Amino acid sequence: MSSPRQVLVCQYVNCVANGGAAVLQAFEANPVEGVEIIAAECQGQCSLGPTVRVLPDEIWYCRIKSEDVPLIVNQHLKQGQVVKPLLHPRMHPHF
Ligand code: FES
Repeated sequence: MSSPRQVLVCQYVNCVANGGAAVLQAFEANPVEGVEIIAAECQGQCSLGPTVRVLPDEIWYCRIKSEDVPLIVNQHLKQGQVVKPLLHPRMHPHF
């Protein structure tokens, strides 16, 4: 059985200082069947926050604003295509 898909939205100090709470709210306002939204602890990428990490895909997005969330929801979570312009450059140097 495949793992359920989860979206970890960092809610630790740096990410929240840069709008992370609004990012979490935006994901919660756009629910997708089978996808769990999680208020996460620090993901170790504070300088490029707010950090959003999609599991089990292990796709990392950085500097996410609440306005970016509908695109991630529609393109990645619903259609299975990563949103390349929002990818974390250190985590995905080859995209
Ligand atoms: S505070 Fe969000 S990654 Fe560290």
